[in-house]
Amino acid sequence: MENLDPASGYDLYAPYYKKDHAHLDSFDWTIAGAWWREALAQLEAVVPAENRKGPLIALDAGCGDGRSLVRFEKWLAGHESATLQGFDLSPQMVKLASAKTHSATLGVLDVEDQQAREAWVQQRGRADLLSAFFLLVHIDREEDFFVAMRHLLAPKGILLMNTIPQRKPPVLVAGTKKFTILSHSHRLEAVREAGYDAGFDLVREHPVVEEDELISTVFWWAAPREVQ
Ligand SMILES: C[S@@+](CC[C@H](N)C(=O)[O-])C[C@H]1O[C@@H](n2cnc3c(N)ncnc32)[C@H](O)[C@@H]1O
Repeated sequence: MENLDPASGYDLYAPYYKKDHAHLDSFDWTIAGAWWREALAQLEAVVPAENRKGPLIALDAGCGDGRSLVRFEKWLAGHESATLQGFDLSPQMVKLASAKTHSATLGVLDVEDQQAREAWVQQRGRADLLSAFFLLVHIDREEDFFVAMRHLLAPKGILLMNTIPQRKPPVLVAGTKKFTILSHSHRLEAVREAGYDAGFDLVREHPVVEEDELISTVFWWAAPREVQ
């Protein structure tokens, strides 16, 4: 079975990804959706709108086809206090997400590419609320993931993310082609340690359990006070 790199794999799988939404939701969404709204309210409360330099920035890293973004956009309707951004490595995923959202600023970006991140941050600013669902599983080293997250976040920003205890990548089917996408397993202890090492404070950790088996862990992290 061919094990494709994430850019080619997700480009190929993009048209079929929507059928996985309900399944993916069961790994993260109840808690992630509630936390995202709570985090936004918390950020809005910290600095009153009249004292802010501009709107808050909510960024979805590895946004895929917009599974989360479309719901974030609905919740942000009427909130002039925040703008929505997203990026993904796969141009096809970004194309689908762009077709589904109206107000979000989206782009193609490899989160591990420091120069590309620098350009993103220069152009669009650092995020106050950063979400990264099912992204860590495609990053080899936990340390690199947290360094990237810290780079994208404003001081005192909030990071919501999940990690899954994936032993084998799932077999995906796109038309007649069957393949897997390169992914990495991460021990929970190593994830926590890398978050702390990058200067984050762990605010909450929520295990998602199905039939006595841990299927996902959702984290709420507080970014350090200084910019990386
Ligand atoms: C399982 S999907 C999750 C998509 C979305 N976050 C969600 O929860 O539905 C993983 C996504 O991460 C993207 N991805 C993988 N490696 C990446 C990288 N280095 N930089 C940016 N995005 C990446 C893939 O292209 C894919 O769209």
